[in-house]
Amino acid sequence: MPGTVYLNGDYLPLEDAKVSVMDRGFLFGDGVYEVIPVYDGKLVGLKKHLQRLQNSLDRVTLDNPLSAEQWLSLFSSLLDKNTEQAGQPESAIYLQITRGVYPKRDLVIDPQYPPTVFAMVLPVTPPDLDRISAGITAITVDDFRWNACDIKSTSLIGNVMLKQQARAAGVDDAILIRDGLVTEGTASNVFLVKDEVLVTPPTSRCLLPGITRDLVIEIAKNNTILVEEREIKQGELDQADEIWMTSSTREIAPVIQLDGKAVSQGRAGDMWKHITGLYQQYKQSIRA
Ligand code: PDD
Repeated sequence: MPGTVYLNGDYLPLEDAKVSVMDRGFLFGDGVYEVIPVYDGKLVGLKKHLQRLQNSLDRVTLDNPLSAEQWLSLFSSLLDKNTEQAGQPESAIYLQITRGVYPKRDLVIDPQYPPTVFAMVLPVTPPDLDRISAGITAITVDDFRWNACDIKSTSLIGNVMLKQQARAAGVDDAILIRDGLVTEGTASNVFLVKDEVLVTPPTSRCLLPGITRDLVIEIAKNNTILVEEREIKQGELDQADEIWMTSSTREIAPVIQLDGKAVSQGRAGDMWKHITGLYQQYKQSIRA
């Protein structure tokens, strides 16, 4: 568990970090967040994560409380104060900004109240390639969430319900389908491989623009693998040679079973092996 956390300008032990029950994050889920991976103490994709944070803040009309330099200095201090975790090969920074504490429970925004700013270091299970390559099982479920999934909002009740649907069905995760089209996973983006072409849905208000998604696309293109960002019909999942789910903390997870049927003969496919090798090289280059 995190030791020292950041809350509104102070660094303090997790157990002493307290937020009012009148905080709009608590009452309404009125806040946004980010998860930034850290390899060997180095922040990964910081610029992209801060850009996505800015997009989320803009979408919910919340001012960014800190400049990029201030965020960096906050993260560095936090990592310095959590050497045990930050010294692990992998960890992550979790940050959250809510619209702050108002005297009344009222939906109306009043910018006179300062936001609540919170950050902590999260432990990440060191990714073990044998474990990742064992793959995950999934079902397809109806994506009933709102039309603003590009916002990394702390209001995650829809994602929680969809994840629970998967768990209740005895599988690891769910691939979400809206109007017959694939959107994303409960906390990841979705790729499929068909005839050696990598396909993923285009960014839109129906999914979070994942930083890992962008990285996988970039790595693939740099290695002359064809990538298509286009709508994926639900039926294409049955025909796919491979299906993957990507996120900062889970990297590239091969789906080996979908709706009870084997995907790529029930094991991680060749394209997954190829891209994962390149992804591991990229990670090594960050550490070096
Ligand atoms: N979530 N889609 C959703 C709904 C997500 O929650 C996430 C990541 C992603 C992938 O984004 P990225 O590649 O930038 O991690 C896509 C983080 C890890 C979380 O909520 O913990």
